[in-house]
Amino acid sequence: MNIDDAIRNRISARAFKPTPVPLELITEILELARRSPSGTNIQPWHVHVVAGDVRARLEAEVLAHRETHPDDAVAEFPRTSKRKEPYTSRMRTLGKAMYGLLGIAKGDQAANWHQWGRNYAFFDAPVGLIFTIDKDLDAMSFLDIGMFMQSIMLAAKARGLDTCAQGAWNNYWSVTRRVLNVPDDRYVICGMSLGYADENEPVNGLIAGREPLPAIATFHGF
Ligand SMILES: Cc1cc2nc3c(=O)[nH]c(=O)nc-3n(C[C@H](O)[C@H](O)[C@H](O)COP(=O)(O)O)c2cc1C
Repeated sequence: MNIDDAIRNRISARAFKPTPVPLELITEILELARRSPSGTNIQPWHVHVVAGDVRARLEAEVLAHRETHPDDAVAEFPRTSKRKEPYTSRMRTLGKAMYGLLGIAKGDQAANWHQWGRNYAFFDAPVGLIFTIDKDLDAMSFLDIGMFMQSIMLAAKARGLDTCAQGAWNNYWSVTRRVLNVPDDRYVICGMSLGYADENEPVNGLIAGREPLPAIATFHGF
């Protein structure tokens, strides 16, 4: 698959088959992704690759904690963005399409809670990735890790695998820290599901729209 096709065909999968992903394939993807660029080449990424018993324990402990400590649905690092247009509309459009495909009615709190909880089961993907960052680094390093994540997502796609980046994993971080022994000087910033998407699940048919080029690019000097 060429790079354009990988970019075009990548989607966030939210239902996976149980088919295991061989360790060699995961290693190959990460070997490629570690070639990602980073400001002054500091390579601020660290990823915990989670499968088998540890993945099952992480899922069970986060989901149990979530029931008893719903207020822990917050990141450890500051997240101060304001909810405003045009972002809220784009978010609502996505939510409407996704919950429509899942058959979840607007206002059905219980179904919403359950569906959001699917993040912590990595949507049943056999492999979960948890990304952490040194607490002393700033926003530029968050950009670097985003690039690392995109490299993983594209390399995975090119190998017939699917992914879903999951900011949801920066919630309930105390549990993730404990289960994976994440050092205290690092934030848990994001997760990612990795596996083979279940094409029979309607939610994986979701094609999230994009703004047209004139809305996102300003050309100068042409
Ligand atoms: C940094 C980041 C965090 C995300 N967090 C979540 C998440 O927690 N749960 C989820 O279902 N999707 C999550 N997504 C997926 C986005 O909703 C998705 O990328 C967007 O709607 C565009 O759709 P597409 O990836 O299918 O093209 C995340 C994506 C990114 C880049």
